[in-house]
Amino acid sequence: MDLEKLSIINTFLVVMWIMGPAYIANSVAVLTGGRFPIDQGRTLEDGNRILGDGKTWSGLIGGTLGGIVFGLILNTDGGYSALESLTGEELSRKLWGENPLFVFTILSFGSLFGDMSASFYKRRQNLDRGDKFALLDMYDFIFMTLFLCLIFQKAWLTSWILDGWTPLFIILFLTPILHRGVNIIGYNIGVKNEPW
Ligand code: CTP
Ligand code: MG
Repeated sequence: MDLEKLSIINTFLVVMWIMGPAYIANSVAVLTGGRFPIDQGRTLEDGNRILGDGKTWSGLIGGTLGGIVFGLILNTDGGYSALESLTGEELSRKLWGENPLFVFTILSFGSLFGDMSASFYKRRQNLDRGDKFALLDMYDFIFMTLFLCLIFQKAWLTSWILDGWTPLFIILFLTPILHRGVNIIGYNIGVKNEPW
């Protein structure tokens, strides 16, 4: 299966499937998070917390492991058959390259590292934990994920996500929708404090 031969809907599915661990890592962190703040309550000269109580070890570790496990499940025969039956296309190559475990780790950790970097920036802007910062909140995790992939897995990233502009546009378009959608659900079922 090569992206340029797929219909737009199928490209959508494949790109989301590939990035799945990054999205899942972010959601699992909300579920496992809340314990052991990474900054241990410390502040910087501006008087604000380094990261704040919204960035914890339990979220970082739980989310990273959650994303990796999700990736390992997608990377089984069952996972490939599921995608093939959804798209009606046969896969001609492995989705996460020769070193899938490493790719899952970058996708998941990158996602939470991006989220953490955004919190660091928010605190420097005098924004409290949970305060809204629309574009940053929606894209932080996916940009850091892509950036780490570019540094550590460039050949793999180029073969799937930087293969023409379509995959990148799909990610830019779908990320805010997925992010907001999942957060609204999380808010309504009571696992998240804000719907953003
Ligand atoms: N979470 C966590 N550890 C992480 C990431 C997330 O514990 N590394 C949990 C926290 O309970 C957090 C929730 O997931 O409150 C939602 O994440 P997010 O919206 O990113 O955090 P906010 O509380 O909005 O804090 P910030 O303003 O720093 O983004
Ligand atoms: Mg938030």
